Amino acid sequence: MPDSAWTGCGVDLLFDGMTLDLPKWFDLHTHFRQGAALPAYVQAHRDMGCAGALAMPNTQPPVARVTGPNAETAWSIQSYRDELLAAGGSAFEQLIVPLYLTRQTTAEMIEQGAASGLLKACKYYPPHGTTNAEHGVPMNSLIGGDVLRAMERCGVVLCIHGEQHGLSGAEYLDAQHNAETTFYRERLPWLLDNHPNLRIVAEHITTRVAAEFVAAAPAHVGATITPQHLLFTLGHLIQGLKYHLYCLPVVKFEEDRAALRLAVSNPDQRKFFAGTDSAPHATKVTPCGCAAGCFTGGCAPQLYAMAFEESGISPLDGLGRDLFEHFLCRNGPAFYGFPASMERFQMERRTSQIQALATAAGPVTPLPTGLGMELTWSLVGQS
Ligand code: NCD
Ligand code: ZN
Repeated sequence: MPDSAWTGCGVDLLFDGMTLDLPKWFDLHTHFRQGAALPAYVQAHRDMGCAGALAMPNTQPPVARVTGPNAETAWSIQSYRDELLAAGGSAFEQLIVPLYLTRQTTAEMIEQGAASGLLKACKYYPPHGTTNAEHGVPMNSLIGGDVLRAMERCGVVLCIHGEQHGLSGAEYLDAQHNAETTFYRERLPWLLDNHPNLRIVAEHITTRVAAEFVAAAPAHVGATITPQHLLFTLGHLIQGLKYHLYCLPVVKFEEDRAALRLAVSNPDQRKFFAGTDSAPHATKVTPCGCAAGCFTGGCAPQLYAMAFEESGISPLDGLGRDLFEHFLCRNGPAFYGFPASMERFQMERRTSQIQALATAAGPVTPLPTGLGMELTWSLVGQS
């Protein structure tokens, strides 16, 4: 492949049987953070053919209002979105910032936000369940309440970090029961019963229980799946304590990974789509712990392609390509109600390596680098 491919030469020239030419894709769950490192994170997404993103609101402080200037305790969708746009996000075709559901969220905020066009989604965080989740409100106190009713009425999507909060030890994680399975077995049926028309995205699902729940739910319940949960299990994390693979919800067991792979292998599936949960941490480990989050900026499409191949789907042949394209580029936009990209990017089945990303917050290690893993796919160009 000539180097000139990087500069966006004609797509026709790139077809050689090993090259995959796709519409640019959308990352419907990612973390761009705040402050001086923001442009580097946005750029890393643009560099991997990403046409748009749903940028998580667990910034510091959280994005917990819809409009108005950033304040010490809460930012607004409007002002955080403006920051993202100024940091390179204006090149995206879509940029959705969900509202972080806190005790301060009101039905009026939802109605006015939806009417203004700024509010497309809200984010449920289990209190203290993950990075910057301390402002979250328990699901029990949201179900049946004014806020979810207003979301249901206005068509605002509920993005769910689906883990039962407050569990410890064996209840938090064992092979059959864990924070996620408990949440999908106990909370989600109740949520759906009370809010039958609420549009829901089960985010970064990791278990068979969650995958089967979503597959059996109505069409307005979808799910994102990360590259790491399709590729790895808890064994990969524990063997050598590969802390770059530590994210929440934590990677699970073989039965779970197999169920996620099965979910993306169904030729008719339209409800599972890409959401990397790329979560950069300039300081990943400290003397007393490890920040949760895998950084996959710059390498997510390659990792997804590898995961599909490991699932027995070749993105290079007819059916496999269709499955891959729907998962990466089409199902997410269709679920959120915007068009797939008209622009293209190209990947090649050729090994590559990815380096740490230099940012104003310091270098950030991408997941494959942290695992000492070679990518079997390369990004080739964009057009
Ligand atoms: C995310 C982060 O670092 O912001 N971490 C993670 O492990 N995925 C938060 C989240 O989405 O849970
Ligand atoms: Zn996340």
